[in-house]
Amino acid sequence: MKASFALTAIAALTAKVSAACFSERLGYPCCKGNTVVYTDNDGKWGVENNNWCGIGSTSGSSAACWSQALGYPCCSHKNVVYTDNDGDWGVENGDWCGIIKGGSGSGSGGGSAAIGEQYTINGNPFANVEFYINPYYVEEVDNAISQMSDSSLIAKAEKMKTYSNAIWLDNIKNMQSWLQPNLEGALSQQNSGGTPVLTVFVVYDLPGRDCHALASNGELLANDSDMERYKSEYIDVIEGHLKTYKSQPVVLVIEPDSLANMVTNIESTPACADSQNYYFDGHAYLLKKLGVFPNVALYLDIGHAFWLGWDDNREKAAKVYAKVIQSGAPAKVRGFVDNVANYTPWEDPTLSRGPDTEWNPCPDEKRYLEAMHKDFTSAGIQSVYFFSDTSRNGKKTDRKHPGEWCNQTGCGIGARPKASPISGMEYLDAFYWVKPIGESDGTSDTSAKRYDGYCGHETAMKPAPEAGQWFQKFFEEGLKNANPPL
Ligand code: BGC
Repeated sequence: MKASFALTAIAALTAKVSAACFSERLGYPCCKGNTVVYTDNDGKWGVENNNWCGIGSTSGSSAACWSQALGYPCCSHKNVVYTDNDGDWGVENGDWCGIIKGGSGSGSGGGSAAIGEQYTINGNPFANVEFYINPYYVEEVDNAISQMSDSSLIAKAEKMKTYSNAIWLDNIKNMQSWLQPNLEGALSQQNSGGTPVLTVFVVYDLPGRDCHALASNGELLANDSDMERYKSEYIDVIEGHLKTYKSQPVVLVIEPDSLANMVTNIESTPACADSQNYYFDGHAYLLKKLGVFPNVALYLDIGHAFWLGWDDNREKAAKVYAKVIQSGAPAKVRGFVDNVANYTPWEDPTLSRGPDTEWNPCPDEKRYLEAMHKDFTSAGIQSVYFFSDTSRNGKKTDRKHPGEWCNQTGCGIGARPKASPISGMEYLDAFYWVKPIGESDGTSDTSAKRYDGYCGHETAMKPAPEAGQWFQKFFEEGLKNANPPL
């Protein structure tokens, strides 16, 4: 469905002028009705006269990034090429993009909200701030609601629009579309409300990404030229925007799974051995570039309890993470994030070290963080704080083995995002939702290039779309099983 098309600015102009809805530029008519049967990155699709058609206008987009509702990303600049009733349009990457509206504009940010004085994070970045709501997720949820009929489930889904989750910069193009407009959106909210607004982004594009699995393999391969692209087209661009948007708090989740793979999978998995140098060099580079801003706090991903929880893995991890942090000096790392996109419960009193846990002394995330806090501190790491992804660990899933990571049946939304959620655990900065629930972990299509066997296992929900794509049944599963209930 997603036609690949390269447009020159002029061709794009023609397409834009004549397009009544987003799908026309892809060669499909606009729908007359509004029954959604499929959603992808281009927009919402229906079927009429046995043909796909686009449902043009969507609700719930951010006011700042108005063009998303029309199927176009926001521009990362302010060069107006064309103006119509919708607003000012620019061109980027050979396609139309919307220029963020409003205000007289300071000009310095490429946006319109005034950038204030330097913000400095003192201590826990999640404390005393508002959490930014990702407009793209709100749109996904609105679309999900349009496919539901059960009123009690709809009421739960509606609540999801009031919670914050992380924005994944999972390739260069998405980074260009999502970083600056959302920083701008958070800044406008901060300027009008007066309270600092925190945005959480996931930095996720290392060469050779997802080296131990297949479902989230990225666009950059483990070779020198892709490493150069990572640095110049991805990290440097992120650095530029963070430097500009200096008056608001930002948290960065750094490259999920990568260092945990360096702890456990270099010897067993050739793709991890091939990626090794790029993972280490990439971290040193990104830490030096992104870990120097007073308003930005970095957390390195540490997998989860049933990955690095065993004594030997934790011991090795402490060395790997200490070395990585050292390689980024003088940059600062606030701490570590656990359970990203996983399902391990925060507490599971039914489990203790023994045959059932394969002798893992850390069979839940709480015990894992307690142990990691000790080990990382003993390894000389200066700043040892954590936050935990509770987006999908409200309930023990149906998985028979805790290594099952793909679209698990029986999963439920977990604790709501909150700063300092556990008294007596002063090193736990927050519970927060990193993986947006409803977005797939990986495709169950056995013929797909990124098909990973785990997404075909018995307890993985099927049929599942590609990683990151909307998975309606899985979202509804999470709503139903939410704990605490929504
Ligand atoms: C996917 C990303 C996606 C993220 C959030 C990851 O598993 O690889 O593409 O952005 O999940 O859904």
